[in-house]
Amino acid sequence: MKNLQQLVRDMTLDEKIAQLIQLATPFFKGSTDQGEITGPMKEMGVSPKIIENAGSVLGASGAENIKAIQKQHLMDNRLGIPLLFMSDIVHGYKTIFPIPLAIGCSWDLELAEKSAQIAALEASVSGIHVTFAPMVDLVRDPRWGRVMESTGEDPYLNSEFARAQVRGFQGSDLANEPERVAACVKHFAAYGAPEGGRDYNTVTMSERDMRESYLPAYKAALDEGCEMVMSAFNTVDGIPATGNKKLMRDILRGEMDFDGVLISDWGAVKEMIPHGIAEDEAAAALKAIQAGIDIEMMTTCYVDHLKSFVDSGDLDEGIIDEAVLRILKLKEKLGLFDNPYRGADELLEKELVMSENHRKVSRELAVKSAVLLKNSGNILPLDKGSKIALTGPLADSGDILGAWSWQGSKEDAVTLKEGILQKIDPSLLSAASGSSIEAISQEDSAAAVKSAEEADVILLALGESSGMSGEAGSRSNIKLPEAQLKLFRELKKTGKPIVVILFNGRPLDLTDISGEADAILEAWQPGTEGGAAIAEILYGDENPSGKLTMSFPYTAGQVPVYYNHYNTGRPKDAPDAQERYVSQYLDIPNKPLFPFGYGLSYTTYSYKKINISADTLVKGDKLTVSAEITNTGSTAGEEIVQFYIRDAVGEVVRPLKELKGFKRIALEPGETKRAEFSISEEQLRYHHADLSFKSDNGQFFAYIGSSSDEVMTIPFKLQS
Ligand code: NOJ
Repeated sequence: MKNLQQLVRDMTLDEKIAQLIQLATPFFKGSTDQGEITGPMKEMGVSPKIIENAGSVLGASGAENIKAIQKQHLMDNRLGIPLLFMSDIVHGYKTIFPIPLAIGCSWDLELAEKSAQIAALEASVSGIHVTFAPMVDLVRDPRWGRVMESTGEDPYLNSEFARAQVRGFQGSDLANEPERVAACVKHFAAYGAPEGGRDYNTVTMSERDMRESYLPAYKAALDEGCEMVMSAFNTVDGIPATGNKKLMRDILRGEMDFDGVLISDWGAVKEMIPHGIAEDEAAAALKAIQAGIDIEMMTTCYVDHLKSFVDSGDLDEGIIDEAVLRILKLKEKLGLFDNPYRGADELLEKELVMSENHRKVSRELAVKSAVLLKNSGNILPLDKGSKIALTGPLADSGDILGAWSWQGSKEDAVTLKEGILQKIDPSLLSAASGSSIEAISQEDSAAAVKSAEEADVILLALGESSGMSGEAGSRSNIKLPEAQLKLFRELKKTGKPIVVILFNGRPLDLTDISGEADAILEAWQPGTEGGAAIAEILYGDENPSGKLTMSFPYTAGQVPVYYNHYNTGRPKDAPDAQERYVSQYLDIPNKPLFPFGYGLSYTTYSYKKINISADTLVKGDKLTVSAEITNTGSTAGEEIVQFYIRDAVGEVVRPLKELKGFKRIALEPGETKRAEFSISEEQLRYHHADLSFKSDNGQFFAYIGSSSDEVMTIPFKLQS
């Protein structure tokens, strides 16, 4: 064991402060992948001394490259302190898994964990030590492009996925498992709630709401042992998270007991200047270090200013020492003082990255993530002998990996056309793009119509390019682009049945097509094996089972719309509701087009005989709620059974439903299984007006069902 306290004592103040900066790969000597330092990076004016003493690197990849940078660094760094390599491995390294929003729709924690484990393996043999994931921001606004990175709108579900991903990335012993990487949960806190869905925008919410809905998933990641936290760009109660002492020192470090490394998001320290809470870089540096940010990502406020604050006595050097020690501890935990190259291994990299087995898991997850939104007249699954007209801008496109797949390559992705050709005789398929994502020509649409006229079924692949979601990918209009709607209308005139397959990074406003399409399959951005997975579903070799974890609004004007909302004093569906003076829109329903938990299958399920083990829950005991689920169709399937509760009367208003459990159950045709869920008093706690977290005696309801909108109910009481 290295004596890290001694190492900190041996470091000069300059060396310590440089440990706190994170710079992108092109700054480092030795890199075999020398990018050019241009534009804003060049203007940063980072001296060679700072680079020699820097603590971590952003965005490097490749075993050979990372080893070369590390080797050179160890020669240049006076005390031989190794660099930490951190990158965004969000849903896969080179083998790309479905986007996290899709993974959420699988409700499959084991597979989610497995996907994170594979991502960690590919990243670690390629030299990476830390991934900037999981992103666990709760999301309710599909205009925000980064909803694709989240698992959805529910605090409980997000927390379960946060845990699964941390387990997958980190394993149980980072020091002895070089095939794992440290995880960095982000973006602390409440980054998923920007006003108007515009990225980086102000977040306004009460502390109670933040604690109730937004903080649980970050906390779950930390409880699972997540090593790092990244601060958010947004304000939290008027103060940017990165300079927010209450959020970082009191809540994160104090209440949540987090003693790991806290990194700012890219440039977020300096951004306190335009936010208007720091007059210059010096003031921004002081606020961030005092708030508890250990590493400043990609700006130089710390290296340029912290020393003068220590010299003037405005900053206690002990605060810097603590930050440095935390970084060194992480390096030690990752085993870097013993082996600075850790898992980096060119041979393993060749052998394991994008291995057949990894692609197989990606395919499996893509199958489970797809959500069947509509299937009129059971047009799906398709007959393998049908004549198919395959069209739409995403019919033969590799742009199905999603915005966070920087190492993934579109060329490696199986397109829908390729997937379909693995299933049917090529003579049955005619393909024409019909339009691009945002433009349509007379010629292209005519070619698509012509091939449709000769086919039995039209398969229409619509959606978004990966650039239309992700960071800085907000949209005010969340319909399909007009060119694609036009193509849909032209094809509709042929009278042939239309199966729409959607590849997109957010819930869309689908009202233009939802009535007239015969079937709609939400494929999301399904990753490297996307086309193969979707073809399996289209041809019935797999039965779709995914269910939405984020509501699909009726229109953007209905946003935010989410299942776990409050009732209001004038609910529209109350038995005595008036016609006009109720909480409603005059022009659209209150309900989303497709609610949380919704998703169809090729079979049908019936829910019967809800039962509860007692009608009163006594504190310290548990109740069991169960229901019988039968596969009433003729196809085997997996049903995601959902368990919700409602607290009828609270000290503050309570959601109409809250997810408290779920199970994926496999059922053969005609088979019945009983799904059981337990309730304890802890699950009924919530944040009261004074922020205390406790339960109230009284009336509750338990629900079991196939979606948030289709449930059976049974009452119970809590008695402490
Ligand atoms: C900015 C993004 O907000 C964050 O999620 C990411 O980890 C960093 N850039 C580093 O790439």
